[in-house]
Amino acid sequence: MNDDFEKEIENRRESVEAVLKSYLPEKGGYASAVIDAMNYSVNAGGKRLRPMLMLETYRLFGGSGRVVEPFMAAIELIHTYSFVHDDLPAMDNDEYRRGKKTTWAAYGEAEAVLAGDALLNYAFETALKAFACEGADEKRIVKALSLLAGKAGIYGMIGGQAADIDAERSGRQAEPEQLLYIHEHKTAALIQAAMGAGALLAGASDKELAVIEKAAGEIGVAFQIQDDILDVTGTFEELGKPIGSDERNSKATYVTLKGLDEATREQKELSNHAIGLLESLSADGYQNEFLTKLIKSLITRLK
Ligand code: IPE
Ligand code: IPE
Ligand code: MG
Ligand code: MG
Ligand code: MG
Repeated sequence: MNDDFEKEIENRRESVEAVLKSYLPEKGGYASAVIDAMNYSVNAGGKRLRPMLMLETYRLFGGSGRVVEPFMAAIELIHTYSFVHDDLPAMDNDEYRRGKKTTWAAYGEAEAVLAGDALLNYAFETALKAFACEGADEKRIVKALSLLAGKAGIYGMIGGQAADIDAERSGRQAEPEQLLYIHEHKTAALIQAAMGAGALLAGASDKELAVIEKAAGEIGVAFQIQDDILDVTGTFEELGKPIGSDERNSKATYVTLKGLDEATREQKELSNHAIGLLESLSADGYQNEFLTKLIKSLITRLK
């Protein structure tokens, strides 16, 4: 990544954070322990990739209003809840995330379960605020809400997490098809929700949405393959989460199934195919150079 691009990413990450912070729950009251745990989990940092992808896909299709902002906050809130629960002792049992104690390690297990539940609900409370935005197009908002709900649920991210845990508990090596299902659901589904909602809010057609969903699916699987790779080759300092978590949990990953070289090859191939799909939209006049660069940068990411 060159310095200018790194600076640009950093600027955009900061503006995403400003949007996110404007929607966080207020502290205090009898539920304050869980509200603190919610704020702690969201404020711990992270790449803010999903809201960034949403905003850039919105811009790709000519979106320019603020109606996307509550959705940008919502997708990050859902992402945050997903890992608050993912890190629990009953799931991956991890004590560090984004360089800090995980929510359960800092606040207790019951509080982390409730904080995750609350973040999921709060995500939809937040997304619904889009109806009150200036120039809100109700049909587009309903479509985006529906996509977000589906991709986060049992036919989306939760389904993937369920299959991930099932594969781990079975004690058998996962089949390639099963592993693809896991990656497409536990990780790619929220990337599809991010990019798909951005497209829908900007008024993309069904045909354009299908291209975005296909590309986002590939970007998401590639992203999880790289996550699997970094669990073996990364460093705690860079990643902010423990290395070797997958091995400790006998987790089904692309690295255990196919080895590092083949996993890396497939990761690149999927990413480049997705970039090609996005570039094909330029024939209809849709282009976003930053979005393409952002996706390219994920191929060699170290965190
Ligand atoms: C981690 O996601 C969980 C996965 C789906 C692999 P990110 O790598 O986007 O985590 P943050 O948000 O940057 O911490
Ligand atoms: C998690 O996959 C996907 C989620 C829905 C959180 P991992 O379990 O590999 O994610 P990390 O490595 O803990 O971030
Ligand atoms: Mg997991
Ligand atoms: Mg995990
Ligand atoms: Mg992982």
